[in-house]
Amino acid sequence: MTSQKVLVAPSILAADFSHLETEIHRAEEAGADWLHLDIMDGHFVDNISFGPAVVATVRKHTKLPLDVHLMIEHPDHYVPRFLEAGANSITVHVEPEAKHDVAKTLSTIRAAECGVGLTLNPATPFEAVEPYLASIDLLLVMTVHPGFGGQPFRLEMMEKVKRAKTWRDAHQSTLHIEVDGGINPATAKLSIANGANVLVAGTSIFRAEDYAKAISELRGNA
Ligand code: DX5
Ligand code: ZN
Repeated sequence: MTSQKVLVAPSILAADFSHLETEIHRAEEAGADWLHLDIMDGHFVDNISFGPAVVATVRKHTKLPLDVHLMIEHPDHYVPRFLEAGANSITVHVEPEAKHDVAKTLSTIRAAECGVGLTLNPATPFEAVEPYLASIDLLLVMTVHPGFGGQPFRLEMMEKVKRAKTWRDAHQSTLHIEVDGGINPATAKLSIANGANVLVAGTSIFRAEDYAKAISELRGNA
């Protein structure tokens, strides 16, 4: 079991954008720890979501930490704009298709005193992120191929969560291990048991009647 407090980060990609301010307040009142903001450029992933302007809008309506997930090419080019928009943590993809110098981007985010995150797609082996683990605050293990909410959880990703936990324990690290995609009470329980301590959930929260109940069930207080 994870030794760290389980944090829940609703992904606003699944929120009702015609009432975004209300959705943000509802998620906050329901006990969300962070807000997860999925940025998609239509190149790195086959979908387009929103950019820095929406992050800045969300920033105005909440004090919750904003956990920004850049599913974009050339994330280094856009990091300054997401910092300006009020991101508390910025996570970039390790895959070569993201077209950036990973170490350089991570140090740029670190230099801005912003949380530093790295993520890998289901098809990317854990070895791809190992060289960077000591330089990041958060490892996001994608449990779906990024691009869309509501996809089924990829069980085999628990191997990567386990390897991240082993690394974290062996280095007495406070690395956050985050999972993202298809997270519901059952897959949350599995992810926590394997070492995850941050749960990103879009559909299972924003499609629920009662956000507080949905968040509490993800934590395991069914
Ligand atoms: C997928 C995104 C996920 C997604 C959440 O590319 O990174 O964060 O919005 O997915 P669900 O709706 O499955 O929780
Ligand atoms: Zn995400």
